[in-house]
Amino acid sequence: MNLLEIKGLSKRFGGFRALSGIDLNVRQGAVHGIIGPNGSGKSTLFNMISGVYLPEPGSQIVFNGTDITGKPSHEIARLGVARTFQMLRIFEGMSVIENMMVGHHGLTGYSPLAAVFGVKSVRSEERRVRAEMMELLNFIGLADYAEMPAGEMSGGQRRLLALGRAMAAKPKLLMLDEPGAGLSPTNVDILLDTVRALQQRFGLTVIIIEHILKLVMDTCETVSVLEHGEKIAEGTPAEISADHRVIEAYLGREMKDEEVRDFLRSA
Ligand SMILES: Nc1ncnc2c1ncn2[C@@H]1O[C@H](COP(=O)(O)OP(=O)(O)O)[C@@H](O)[C@H]1O
Ligand SMILES: [Mg+2]
Repeated sequence: MNLLEIKGLSKRFGGFRALSGIDLNVRQGAVHGIIGPNGSGKSTLFNMISGVYLPEPGSQIVFNGTDITGKPSHEIARLGVARTFQMLRIFEGMSVIENMMVGHHGLTGYSPLAAVFGVKSVRSEERRVRAEMMELLNFIGLADYAEMPAGEMSGGQRRLLALGRAMAAKPKLLMLDEPGAGLSPTNVDILLDTVRALQQRFGLTVIIIEHILKLVMDTCETVSVLEHGEKIAEGTPAEISADHRVIEAYLGREMKDEEVRDFLRSA
């Protein structure tokens, strides 16, 4: 069963075609990779799915059986779509656990202001949410840092927090935009292991955007490749890494077999 079905998705910015008639199906429970060079339309695709941008007429996005084409982002979030952004959005002055609770509030509409007035039911609700968020922090390996100001976190910890905060809304679909950007190989491995663990524990469906081929090769069962706003290839990581069009999209020229092998080893 497909959790997400996209048909003919297009987006123009002025006269520029950022996405041209993309078809994409994401299976329930999958970890699906989207790769492509810089500027190929990957983030735009996420912005369309999450309702940040309006799609062109003729586009269709169906999530979990509901047509979400053109719906506002808060409504799409409420249906169970969560995402991280390429640029981190962490509240530096707040503690790690407070950052997590913001992710949760975003979904329930529970007002942090009410907490200030100290209503009793709000207090017990806050305790419940806090316990839930601690459990998530424990799961992503940040429980020991719960009370630390988020501004003091390392790069790897920030990425994990962004992941945890997206999970706080209990999504069905989690979309990660270049989660490995700026991380050391070790931290990338930790992050991807955490994504896998979350996917298995919560029966999540995950879409990972990456421009580093190798990163999604080990993690995703299906990979779709974008170039200049078009889907040029799709398949298993093995199929994709044997596809010359994909390699050429990255290097902008034709390659011999041995060059392709060298590239894949080094990428
Ligand atoms: N809000 C916008 N206004 C104008 N052009 C945009 C906007 N967002 C993206 N683009 C353009 O669309 C193309 C695809 O961008 P993007 O989806 O961010 O690529 P990727 O994430 O694959 O690097 C780029 O050429 C980019 O400059
Ligand atoms: Mg991008």
